[in-house]
Amino acid sequence: MLPTIDRQEDVIVMVDQRKLPGQEVYVRCRTPQEVAKAIRTMVIRGAPAIGVAAAWGIALGVRRSTAKGTRQLAVEFQKICDMMAATRPTAVNLFWAIDRMKRVFGEGAQAGESAEELANRLDREAQKIHDEDVASCRAMGAHGAEMLADGSRVLTHCNAGALATAGYGSALGVIRAAVESGKKIAVFADETRPFLQGARLTAWELVRDGINTTVITESMAGPLMRAGEIDAVIVGADRIAANGDTANKIGTYTVAVLAHEHNIPFYIAAPLSTIDLGTAEGDKIPIEERDQREVSHLGSARLTPEGAKIRNPAFDVTPHRYITGIVTERGILRPPYAESLAAAVRGVAQDSGLKA
Ligand code: MRU
Repeated sequence: MLPTIDRQEDVIVMVDQRKLPGQEVYVRCRTPQEVAKAIRTMVIRGAPAIGVAAAWGIALGVRRSTAKGTRQLAVEFQKICDMMAATRPTAVNLFWAIDRMKRVFGEGAQAGESAEELANRLDREAQKIHDEDVASCRAMGAHGAEMLADGSRVLTHCNAGALATAGYGSALGVIRAAVESGKKIAVFADETRPFLQGARLTAWELVRDGINTTVITESMAGPLMRAGEIDAVIVGADRIAANGDTANKIGTYTVAVLAHEHNIPFYIAAPLSTIDLGTAEGDKIPIEERDQREVSHLGSARLTPEGAKIRNPAFDVTPHRYITGIVTERGILRPPYAESLAAAVRGVAQDSGLKA
């Protein structure tokens, strides 16, 4: 399986996704500050993957802390959590993972555990978040593969693969599972300007797995749909609001509208950790605005003239009416999403003894 993120002793190792596919270089984070920087600068990216990275970063921070006593450790812990929360605003998996780490720390502190015991407890929770993410991807794959007919030509946008998760992938997990079940699947990967996650990362992963992959620029998706060359669209998600509106990589909304126009099913694949019942609708989801340089430059080469203004919203919101189904580890959720999302999240909360 692809090495997105791994803990090796007291170091968090990540493949540097900014350098793929040209170079397979690994970044070794020894402090929570280094983990936060890796998330902010997109060494690691993708909603579930950044949640896992934040959890490991928090565990690492407590393990390395030189705080005198648990009271001082609690102050330091809060600062580390705040630092992780300030890295990227849109993917809710980040905040979900931080909340889990906070809850576990709180339980240990209340039980009067030593710094060592708290560090062990947080390590275990980070490992759990990591392992659960891989298991969720596998389950999404099993549920989602059934809806892809043999011979399907599937369009995806951005990278919702092994690199965007702890392994296997959400949208690409569905494609992988369909291929593993013996179906012939051809994938069209949108290039995904400006960071090129589709051209660089999705294509790299799929080619590595021997899956039939064609890279197109975003502007080619419409004409291909019109020509009858796309049977289904499947993408990941960064945050799904309570009504089903879904934030995902910029360009997803356009693909969804095009799919609707051409009567092509449009699926989201995301773990339940991406569902944010606390956000009523898509317009309330914070959208990250990234560095203008990602648009104005390609590597070190300037593309745009000095003086031209640049916008770089990194995500957009697809209204729920364009979404045919949401593939989760609990099965495929269908409209009305206000009901199906709440029921799915409630199911997990009951299983784990949490309140929805
Ligand atoms: O800015 P990124 O690369 O972190 O954005 C990632 C995406 O938008 C993915 O499509 C989404 O996180 C799904 S990841 C399984």
